[in-house]
Amino acid sequence: MQRIPISTGAPYEVLVGQQLLEQAGTLIEHVVSFQKAVIVTDDKVAPLYLEKVLASFSDQYHIEVFVLPNGESSKCESELFRLFSFLCEKGLTRTDLLIALGGGVVGDLCGFAASCYLRGIPFVQIPTTLLAQVDSSVGGKTAIDLPQGKNLVGTFYQPKLVLCDTDTLNTLEPADFAGGMAEVIKYACIADRALFDTLHEPLSDERLVHIISRCIEIKAQVVAVDEHDTGLRMVLNFGHTIGHAVEKYHHYTDYTHGEAVAIGMVKILTLAAAAGYCPASFADEVEALCKLHHLPTVCDVPEEELFAVCGLDKKNAGDTIRIILLKTIGEASIVPMKHDRFRDFLKGN
Ligand SMILES: NC(=O)c1ccc[n+]([C@@H]2O[C@H](COP(=O)([O-])OP(=O)(O)OC[C@H]3O[C@@H](n4cnc5c(N)ncnc54)[C@H](O)[C@@H]3O)[C@@H](O)[C@H]2O)c1
Ligand SMILES: [Zn+2]
Repeated sequence: MQRIPISTGAPYEVLVGQQLLEQAGTLIEHVVSFQKAVIVTDDKVAPLYLEKVLASFSDQYHIEVFVLPNGESSKCESELFRLFSFLCEKGLTRTDLLIALGGGVVGDLCGFAASCYLRGIPFVQIPTTLLAQVDSSVGGKTAIDLPQGKNLVGTFYQPKLVLCDTDTLNTLEPADFAGGMAEVIKYACIADRALFDTLHEPLSDERLVHIISRCIEIKAQVVAVDEHDTGLRMVLNFGHTIGHAVEKYHHYTDYTHGEAVAIGMVKILTLAAAAGYCPASFADEVEALCKLHHLPTVCDVPEEELFAVCGLDKKNAGDTIRIILLKTIGEASIVPMKHDRFRDFLKGN
């Protein structure tokens, strides 16, 4: 098992390894004292893993379970308030605990509820998707969506502990696993040549623990410098400007977030190469690695529509966008570009 310290305002640890669900109760009891806990999960994860987690707590604790329908549409106001009512009904107090068992949807909603209920109660994350293990469970961002857009209401709120059990990843849909790998490739690109090279080797259980731990370390380093996302944390958005445009163009249906990020990384590097910012061979290298991990790499948003889909056409021509460019692996910079310049950049100029 790997232990990764996260040095935010309130520090905590992320544990990564196999068979952690079986030890969840003991590991949690070690870092938080509580009487009651509510496990928040979804209807796809519950039949797979809930029993294991429940069995890991000793009898002295009173554990309740709140189940969401799986999928992004649950990250909403009505499910949040259904959870608040449930917490009141069960009489949860500030010395009790919330536990998120699931992917990023469960983690974001549960974390947001934990940060608001009684002005904040302790919570623990048990992320069960690759994306949630390497990204959403670390860094303390919580949120729900509004009809007007994703993640529009949220808080910064750190968990007491994060348990990443890599055994849970065996049951993921292939597209969800591949989507998580896109974020892994993103970390390798912005920070770590050795990780990039490792991603060319066959995945074993031990290698997966190492890869996930390394991604969390990279995110932890960035978050430690910029907990509230006012500067450096932006490098984590590599591939995301165009990735978000691809998701939006496809009405959030055809590609998972990670798949769109893979397309976004390859496209931005191809454009950067065309503008002489990095060698074309670098874009090719990233494209080949994405393909190796069964990720799409072709951006099918028509070039003339890309600028508009990036959501910039409604803003003043004088406005500036900050995009993440890489000269090579590990050399990421935040590059400010006037919108007019970015429009040309997207056309390959
Ligand atoms: N807070 C942050 O910093 C941050 C960062 C990135 C993404 N996010 C958020 O994360 C969410 C996406 O996360 P996600 O991709 O984990 O989505 P998700 O939670 O919807 O999970 C994807 C699907 O996998 C299922 N699932 C989860 N674990 C499983 C397992 N072990 N085996 C089989 N199926 C399993 C879920 O039920 C769901 O159907 C988005 O809402 C996004 O906004 C947050
Ligand atoms: Zn992402």
